[in-house]
Amino acid sequence: MPRGLRSELSRTEGQYSMTTSERVSSAAEAQVARLRVGDKELALPIEPATEGQSAINIAPLLKDTGLVTLDYGYANTAPTRSAITYLDGDNGILRYRGYPIEELAESTTFLEVAYLLIYGELPNAQQLAAWTDQIRHHTWIRLAYRQFFEAFPTEAHPMAVVASAVSGLSAFYPGSGNPHDAADVELATIRLLAKLPTIAAAAFRRTRSEAPVVPDDDLEYEANFLKMIFADPSKPWVTDPEAAHALRVLLILHADHEQNCSTSTVRMVGSSLANLYVSMSGGIAALWGPLHGGANQEVLEMLEAIAADGGDVAKAVRRAKDKDDPFRLMGFGHRVYKNYDPRAKIIKAAAEPLLMKMHGDDHLLRIALELEQVALSDPYFVDHKLYPNVDFYSGLIYRALGFPTEMFTVLFAMGRLPGWIAQWREMMHDPQARIGRPRQLYVGQPRRSFVPLDQR
Ligand code: CMC
Repeated sequence: MPRGLRSELSRTEGQYSMTTSERVSSAAEAQVARLRVGDKELALPIEPATEGQSAINIAPLLKDTGLVTLDYGYANTAPTRSAITYLDGDNGILRYRGYPIEELAESTTFLEVAYLLIYGELPNAQQLAAWTDQIRHHTWIRLAYRQFFEAFPTEAHPMAVVASAVSGLSAFYPGSGNPHDAADVELATIRLLAKLPTIAAAAFRRTRSEAPVVPDDDLEYEANFLKMIFADPSKPWVTDPEAAHALRVLLILHADHEQNCSTSTVRMVGSSLANLYVSMSGGIAALWGPLHGGANQEVLEMLEAIAADGGDVAKAVRRAKDKDDPFRLMGFGHRVYKNYDPRAKIIKAAAEPLLMKMHGDDHLLRIALELEQVALSDPYFVDHKLYPNVDFYSGLIYRALGFPTEMFTVLFAMGRLPGWIAQWREMMHDPQARIGRPRQLYVGQPRRSFVPLDQR
């Protein structure tokens, strides 16, 4: 039974934490890091990873030394063990449950990947059919919930509407998503995966003052979403297979990325035992920022600004290097990747033929390719190991598919949803999980006496 997070869930994830703890504890005896504080020496166990960096377990630090660690942006901190995603930033490797992202993008569907992330194994044909059926069964949203979208101004950013609407699911399904109830969590998982495309499309239609298009359960996940976004209700809908394929690949590439900002937020919210819906809403809010998922919108706006400024790529690179200028090359750099982001590689390869087909000679793609070329040969970018990340080319494809820029981060959220759910569920099964509660290094005033208002 978890120490901090009591849970009655009993699916496959539970088995993982036991085997991992067992493996870790036997290996930990073999290796320790020694930390000397004054005349005290602490032997801190080093826990081995199956791949990648091992971890110094600092759990006894505060109790034994009275000290805490200071680690802005958690750059050196692993707040959890996880068996979901492996990322090697130096070598540009990304794997979900051991499977390379390149193979998954080539050969699976998004719902298959969602199943893999959440349950740990690829589904067999029967499991996949049952999983897909369940998700299709829950795509509709209630009439009262549809009216919720009408309360928002048409100029609202769809991320604001989507974050509120996902949080609103906990109001429409009260008591559901309760971490203590396995059946509840299962149902909330299905509902979220099924309804997020419906919610995202309703948020998009709201920006056009248009009524939502109801889900079409005969269509596949991506095709249904494209229909809810783009269909003219007075005309029959025909899915463009290339558009559905491009969207499928993008969703798969975004499906998980270990302990990034939004996923850590999901875990932090969930660590208080908040329900699954509101935890996802927290993740959506964190994703919206321009340094995280919001970068895809910023990249396209940057490319448009460079084009409007006469296409002067060198000027943008110059500005990005100027420490007195807050401008950054959006879509470049990553906390973990110090090499080409493998997702960006796949998206770039897909972007060129798609854009040529849909737009002919695409001027923004030309600027993006030139910018990449200049940046990758510039000593500043080379020395800082700043490579294009997932957001650099994804916006060009979203734009080619007909999405306005403000929908780009919503598409990222749709892709990331199974990863957030998988990470939340993994935490609920982790016997060592506790409420997230970091410490601080206090640098404020020492004690002082209150001064009455008339004496200040
Ligand atoms: N353009 C110019 N300089 C940059 C950039 C950039 N895009 N990114 C980092 N740097 C410089 C930064 O100025 C600093 O230089 P110095 O050491 O000389 O002061 C150095 O590189 C390290 O930057 P940092 O901000 O300390 O690195 P970080 O790991 O805290 O931040 C990042 C990572 C992704 C927030 C950052 O690279 C960035 O702001 N990139 C642009 C926004 C972006 O594309 N975000 C999407 C990230 S990938 C998808 C996702 O996570 O959602």
